[in-house]
Amino acid sequence: MGSWPKDVGIVALEIIFPSQYVDQTELEEYDGVTAGKYTIGLGQQRMGFCSDREDINSLCLTVVKKLIEKHGIQYSDVGRLEVGTETIIDKSKSVKTVLMQLFEPHGVTDLEGVDTTNACYGGTAALFNAVQWVESSAWNGRYALVVAGDIAVYAKGSARPTGGAGAVAMLVGPNAPLVLDRGIRATYIKHAYDFYKPDLTSEYPTVDGKLSIQCYLSALDNCYQLFCKNVAKNYNIKVTLDYFDSVVFHSPYCKLVQKSVARLALNDFVNGPENKRQELFPGSEAYNNVSLSNSYFDRELEKAFLGYSKEAFCKKTSPSLLIASQVGNMYTPSLYGGLVSLLISKDIFQLAGTKVGLFSYGSGLAASLYTISVSKDCNEASPLFKLVSSLQQVKPLLQRRQKVAPEKFEANLELRERNCHKAPYEPSGSIDHFFPGTYYLTKIDDLHRRFYDRIPVAANGHA
Ligand code: ACO
Repeated sequence: MGSWPKDVGIVALEIIFPSQYVDQTELEEYDGVTAGKYTIGLGQQRMGFCSDREDINSLCLTVVKKLIEKHGIQYSDVGRLEVGTETIIDKSKSVKTVLMQLFEPHGVTDLEGVDTTNACYGGTAALFNAVQWVESSAWNGRYALVVAGDIAVYAKGSARPTGGAGAVAMLVGPNAPLVLDRGIRATYIKHAYDFYKPDLTSEYPTVDGKLSIQCYLSALDNCYQLFCKNVAKNYNIKVTLDYFDSVVFHSPYCKLVQKSVARLALNDFVNGPENKRQELFPGSEAYNNVSLSNSYFDRELEKAFLGYSKEAFCKKTSPSLLIASQVGNMYTPSLYGGLVSLLISKDIFQLAGTKVGLFSYGSGLAASLYTISVSKDCNEASPLFKLVSSLQQVKPLLQRRQKVAPEKFEANLELRERNCHKAPYEPSGSIDHFFPGTYYLTKIDDLHRRFYDRIPVAANGHA
């Protein structure tokens, strides 16, 4: 094999989300909670959801086919394919093997990689595997394709408005416009029962909401502290929020992301020189002895640091929350939906040459903080221009979705609940609302084998 491949990272990116959504203001009224709880308290506007016509296989088939078609990739250009998901419909057969239906007709079966699972972290684990494969002696010169997909549904109650669904596909290779920086990323993995899915007959997780927030924020603290050390050691740079042009987070709900930026500011306060505190954080005397591990639910402290970090949030993070607020928590694709949102929210000249921090969190728990360097080259022939231009359909597609009343949304979840893992099964949901190019379930036979069909693509070749 030739020389060490340069600038390994994301070459192309594709996202899909459900064509139906429920409005969070209408859901507040329907659920009988106070107005503003979901929209202001959680920061969510709309929630995408799937009918009984979609499952994890159909979502992943749709997003892979869309990426391949839109970017003119040959199936034989791909040498590794793996999936990150926590939407388990089979305890043995991977989603990756289902996706092989797209590759086999082209004679492509030499594809390493299977599925990776740990709550919302599986997509990041798959991405790291893909980058490492390209950088390794096993690399055969072809692209790796990473798929992150999930259907996030919760039992009736306070967690339900934090659902969502979607899938992301990322083509990984050398000379990429979005390069994963080497040698500085930080990981934090621990045993916790904050959110898990022990009941294999149900789609719903068992959730300790408060503990999950504490786990998320403490994983962020730990990853950030280690990241700061790694950068100081390798580059002799002291990291603060200023180090990043943008920071993208796994988004269970948008308000938690805003609190996460405040948390990074608190870390900067703790890490910074004491004699500069009043200058950088005016009026912060009361927090001089603050301990990171004892402050997760200190509302006064949180409010103060939400204030100190407001400008940073608006500039560095808010643009990445479009899809999260419009679709909800997509679980494994959530962080990458944040990356897509960032890429479509700015002018390419504002993106070129910037440094993006990414925080990935999966309950249970596994978390990493890493950075992407965006290529400086943004002329019309550049890979960055190609990647960003290919995402211009995302905003119009969000608008083209169909709004469904909360009653129908709830009936849909009840239908999924009743028929989860049922075989044989004939799905009854309409296929009229699907975007062109969407794969959907046609039947499950008595041996639990699943069959799919596809909505024809539009005349322009895609949705
Ligand atoms: N107007 C404005 N804000 C309001 C209103 C209102 N009318 N009513 C409530 N709020 C605020 C609350 O003050 C609270 O704000 P705070 O967090 O700043 O204190 C917020 O809305 C949420 O309300 P709560 O009553 O505290 O929380 P709730 O019991 O509704 O549960 C939770 C929220 C825990 C996030 C729940 O939805 C859940 O369990 N979700 C799934 C787990 C999750 O997403 N965890 C995050 C990390 S793990 C993962 O990614 C899955």
